[in-house]
Amino acid sequence: MHEPLGIRISGTGRAVPERVVHNREFESRLETNDQWIRERTGIIERRYANPAKGETTAGLAVKASRLAIEAAGLTPDDIDLIIVATITPEAILPSTACFVQQELCSKPVPAYDLVAACSGFVYSLLTAGAMINTGRYQNVLVIGSEVMTIITDMEDRATAILFGDGAGAAVISGTPDTSGPALLHSIMSAEGSGDSMLHVPAGGSRVPTSQMTLNERLHYVKMNGREVYKKAVKRNHDLVDQTLSETGVDPNDIKLVIPHQSNLRIINSARERMGLPEDRVYMNIDRFGNTSGASIPICLDECFRSGRIQSGDLLLLIAFGAGFTWGSALLRV
Ligand code: UT7
Repeated sequence: MHEPLGIRISGTGRAVPERVVHNREFESRLETNDQWIRERTGIIERRYANPAKGETTAGLAVKASRLAIEAAGLTPDDIDLIIVATITPEAILPSTACFVQQELCSKPVPAYDLVAACSGFVYSLLTAGAMINTGRYQNVLVIGSEVMTIITDMEDRATAILFGDGAGAAVISGTPDTSGPALLHSIMSAEGSGDSMLHVPAGGSRVPTSQMTLNERLHYVKMNGREVYKKAVKRNHDLVDQTLSETGVDPNDIKLVIPHQSNLRIINSARERMGLPEDRVYMNIDRFGNTSGASIPICLDECFRSGRIQSGDLLLLIAFGAGFTWGSALLRV
């Protein structure tokens, strides 16, 4: 097991679009129904962004970030690095992080995007920790922001019902010692052979945009739901097992687990693996659906603001997503 890393979550924030889309809205145009969606996914409603109202990936990210920075008792100019986890960027060029920097900061700071799909926030948090550990950065703004509706095929019932839009942000700060808040354990890995199970086939260099790709709807997410489901369950179990065995931590000592919000059944399977009751594993998939890289930081902000996580608590984040990618972080907050 690696040494604890002296970092803490010093502030969080979230921003979700105004428009609420209930499962029933799909019933008139897709062969699906509210009951199927609830039972198979746990989703009841999700949010859809309206870019004309500023609800873009960077727009939501900036809103969430301002709240996180304020909660940390800092000002935007105290931020010395910005990392944005997203698979639905503001534009192909430049990075979403540069748009965020432009809006937030009065001076230049390093800013970049990190692409790891649903594991993006955990990857970014761990990257922030490593950057703080170099001694060159003190307050890193880590954001998960997604407008998943730009890559969601609203004619495909298997995926249209799953995704939602939103953003969450956290300020990760260095701490002088590791006896208080710290990153106690982490896992980060990827297996690219899962590429065709969950992907957007066109719009990149492998399949550049053409009239054909537009006609074939290849700019939208394609998913082999059943295979991804099986992989997600297995990888989440592995994350939990490895964390517990390498740290020796008793699951009952973990105050809260925040899993990526992919599917109620996937989350429950991880919870059962740990033998934890329902109230120890946080879920908001019923209200927001799967917001990919934004799901964990949105949960995080809800938990901090409602008092579900208190100073000194052990918090476990776990995520699995396209790539395949997966990661976890055990934190004392
Ligand atoms: O974010 C990280 C990565 N993403 C995930 O982790 C998602 C992983 N996958 C899943 O969550 C699930 O596979 C889904 C929720 C996408 C699908 O649930 P499932 O229980 O795996 O359903 P299935 O794909 O095995 O399909 C069962 C049936 C099929 O009909 P037949 O072939 O049995 O007649 C589907 O065509 O359900 C049908 N179906 C639907 N029926 C009503 C698929 N989508 C829908 C729908 N409404 N929206």
